[in-house]
Amino acid sequence: MKKKTLKKFASVVAISGMLVMLAGCNSSLLNETEVEGAQRPIIIQGPMPIEAEDFAKKLDKVKVEKSGTFVFYKGKLNNYPVIVTKTGKGMENTAAATALAIEKYDPIAIINQGTSGGHDPSLNVFDIVLGEKTTNIGSLKTTNMDENQGIDPTSWIPMDLMASEGSGSDPNANKVRYYEGDKDLLAAANAVKDTYTKGKVVEGIIGSADFWNSEVDRIKWIHEIYGTSVEEMEGASAAQIADAYDVAFLGIRILSNNKTNGGTYNPGTAAANQEYVYEVVKEYISMMKSK
Ligand code: 5AD
Repeated sequence: MKKKTLKKFASVVAISGMLVMLAGCNSSLLNETEVEGAQRPIIIQGPMPIEAEDFAKKLDKVKVEKSGTFVFYKGKLNNYPVIVTKTGKGMENTAAATALAIEKYDPIAIINQGTSGGHDPSLNVFDIVLGEKTTNIGSLKTTNMDENQGIDPTSWIPMDLMASEGSGSDPNANKVRYYEGDKDLLAAANAVKDTYTKGKVVEGIIGSADFWNSEVDRIKWIHEIYGTSVEEMEGASAAQIADAYDVAFLGIRILSNNKTNGGTYNPGTAAANQEYVYEVVKEYISMMKSK
């Protein structure tokens, strides 16, 4: 090879080498974005501002998205996508916010968390209930009573709205439907139990409906029929929608009040629960990464 041709050849080799390096570099960058794009976010729901904003502040690189009255704080926790949702209070808001989140963000898991009222007298304000099961305690069928026969709430029968697509007279619907807490989310929550020092962390049944019960006998009746540890206004609604889309779900509720043992309302519990749930989410992320 002539000197000039050799030089040309050398520079062609060098340039193609650089191109190969660049291509390599590009493809690794691409892989990173691809992997990141493939990471399905974890959704953390809180009904009231005091139940969502503390957690949102803990996220990195937060972008706020709004849809209707629902606020999504999209950020990162340990470099993993986490979206805090302020759902608003109650079953309807929560169902809508859950369906929207699933359609918009394709989450890997949903945690519905916040405050609750105790149904179990052995649980105190600041104790936390992991929803081994979550159930709708406001879906009921009454007995038949004519005019002036009064009302008899303790004879009402739990009604499973998902039992069939038929009418309310379907006898298969005369039962309680429980949504199971996801095993991996429960494992993560149990693994970091000891980081929580303001009360105990127990597994139990979370009951939800658009009501706030302060009649102790009514609370007792619900506790006996449904086995509830606590009541709140959102969990079962999120669980039902998560189940409809086959998304992993767990309810995590702190007691902010417990009428059955004189535990008076403490709003400071909302922040304490978010601190604990933050530990749960970190653990769940590291469990997923080590799989
Ligand atoms: N009954 C019903 N909801 C309660 N909450 C806290 N304590 C109770 C209770 N005893 C929660 C609900 C709702 C808000 C009013 O507080 O989930 O979001």
